[in-house]
This record gives sequence, C-alpha cells and structure tokens, in this order.
Amino acid sequence: MKKNIAVLPGDGIGPEVMREALKVLAKIEKKYKTAFKYEHALAGGAAWDKYGEHLPQKTLDICRRSDAILFGSVGGPVREQQHPKWAGAEVNSLLGLRKTFNLYANLRPAKLYPALASASPLREDTAKKGFDILVVRELTGGIYFGEPKGRCGEGESESAFDTMIYSRAEIRRIAHIAFRAAQSRRKKVTSVDKANVLMTMVFWREVVEEVAKEYPDVVCEPMYVDNAAQQLTLKPSQFDVMLCGNMFGDILSDEAAAITGSLGMLPSASLAENGFGMYEPGGGSAPDIAGKGIANPIAQIMSAAMMLKYSFAMNEAYADIAGAVEQVLNEGGRTADIRQPGCKTIGTEEMGSLIADKIIF
Ligand code: IPM
Ligand code: MG
Repeated sequence: MKKNIAVLPGDGIGPEVMREALKVLAKIEKKYKTAFKYEHALAGGAAWDKYGEHLPQKTLDICRRSDAILFGSVGGPVREQQHPKWAGAEVNSLLGLRKTFNLYANLRPAKLYPALASASPLREDTAKKGFDILVVRELTGGIYFGEPKGRCGEGESESAFDTMIYSRAEIRRIAHIAFRAAQSRRKKVTSVDKANVLMTMVFWREVVEEVAKEYPDVVCEPMYVDNAAQQLTLKPSQFDVMLCGNMFGDILSDEAAAITGSLGMLPSASLAENGFGMYEPGGGSAPDIAGKGIANPIAQIMSAAMMLKYSFAMNEAYADIAGAVEQVLNEGGRTADIRQPGCKTIGTEEMGSLIADKIIF
C-alpha cells in the first residue's frame, strides 16, 4: 500500500508539534519496516505569506496526490484577525480542504486519561469515574455549507441568514459511521439533535432511527443538544459514541475536549468515503505560546496515530503510539497545559522524545 503523506504544519504551534509527530512516525517506520513519503505544503497564514491565499493550488495538488493529509493548525492572534493574512484563514483552508476532499466523517475521541483526572475541570468524583467518548461529527453539510446564505436589506431591516439543510443520504452515511464505530466500542450511540424545534432535526432523528434498525446490537438513544451539553459535564461516563450534525458536533466536541483537561490532548480524523483522510489536533494554533517550545504535542502525535489506523490500516502501530502516550503520562510526563504538582513540566520536544522512546522493537 502506498503511503504518501501531505504534511501541512500551518501556523502558530503547528510546525513545532508537527515535528514531534514526525519523530514518532519515524520510529513506526523502523519498527514496521515501512516508508512514508512526505510532501510538505503550506496552509493558512503561512500560505498567505508566500501565495497571497490560504489554500493555494500547489497545496491542493500535493494533497490530491497523497494518501492522507497530516494537518497542524491554522490561524493568527485574535488582535490581528482583521489583517488579510489572518481574516478567514481557518474557514478558507480548513473548510476548503473538508469540502474539496469530501471529508464528511469527523471522528473526535475524547478520553479522560486516569493520570490526568486532576487536570479535568469536572467535579472530582465525576472525573474519577473517567470517560471515553467518540464524537462523530458530520463535517461537510448542515448549516456550515447550506445555501443560500448571505445578507440582505438595509438599516434596521438589514438581515443575515444561513441555511440548515440535511439530505437523507448525508444523514445515513454519517449514522452508519457512528453505529459501526459503536460496534467496536461499548455499543451505544447517542444521537444529538434539536427535534423539539428544528425541522432538519426532526428529519435527522427519523433517519438515524431508520439506520439504527440495521444495528440491533447497538443501543440508540436520541438526546436534545442542550441536554447533551449539560449531561457531558454531569455524567460524561454515560456516553460512548455521540452522533452529531456539523454545528452541534463543533460545539460538543470542544466541550468533550475541555473536560479531558486540555485541548492539547485531542486528536481528530476527517474521513472521506474512499478511506482518504485528514488528521489534525483539535486545539488550534495557540499563537500566544507559539515558538516557545512549550506546546503539548500529544494531540498531533495521536492524530498521526489515527492516520495509521484509518488510512493505512496499521492498527498495531496505532496501539503502539496510544500505549506510549499513556505510559509517558503515567510516569508523570507533563507539558505546561497539563502541569501537575509533583510532576516535572517538560517542553514540546522532550514530550515528543519520551513518547518516541517508548516505541520499542
Ligand atoms: C473545528 C473548528 C472549525 C469548525 C473552525 C476553525 C472553522 O472550530 O474544527 O472544530 O468550526 O469546524
Ligand atoms: Mg470547533
């Protein structure tokens, strides 16, 4: 199987955490006697500097001839958002890549590592129970992409509008992803909707329940999004797979991430129907700490691990990396975002090396 990887480090902490992910992948190449072929490309502000756009054709071409995209993060400091280098950087590059490559299935695992229970903002007894959630978010439809969207009128009647729309096919294919994922986990899908108010969500619930009939071994439970938001903070251990549309998935995946203790821990996979995928950390470009060597590389490293699993079917290599991360955390390795009394705080590079060193053969 070919393993051509487009590497898009992007902005902010992207390049420094990407280096650590590549360090870990180098160990995997050795262990499994395989070779990854990397092509680096620019995205976001980094691309704007060279090409005057956030997602240049050159980057798209490199992605197109690859088998997977390993993405860092894009975006600039809040106070510089108006600057053309940063205005729309995330939307243009990220949403552009998602749409271009039909990356409709977004998997965002949020797991509370026992070693990090005290870093979680959850109540102590809730955190102690732990949780292991997979948010399955529809990524190329819904209100993010629905047409028409725009502005009209003027003065007090000037208005803006978006369109929330889902087709049966779109709901069915993401629901199948969620149910299949649940089959290899704890066999429960919570389908998040707002069927008490929105027509699209009445339809969402209907179609998900249709698909659920094909998976009699999986429990399917619909839940309103507002309730899901509070249940996540009160009793996250009740969730296995959370199936969401694009916008609710955006919001709830951030919440699920935050209760694990740090956004710096969360990887993600965005998959197309043909196995092609883009893999990126959930935490963003964190411009305030960029270049300081203190960012947590775990989300990027685990995103690379997800790439091995979902694009290259290297499940054992995935387990190697996941195990290495857990071991380093158990032994007290902590970057600043997850610092803990009694544990030494280490930098990005050291965290990457500790994890790489745990991959033995
Ligand atoms: C995410 C981000 C993006 C989204 C933004 C940056 C466009 O929040 O990946 O969750 O809303 O999808
Ligand atoms: Mg988001």
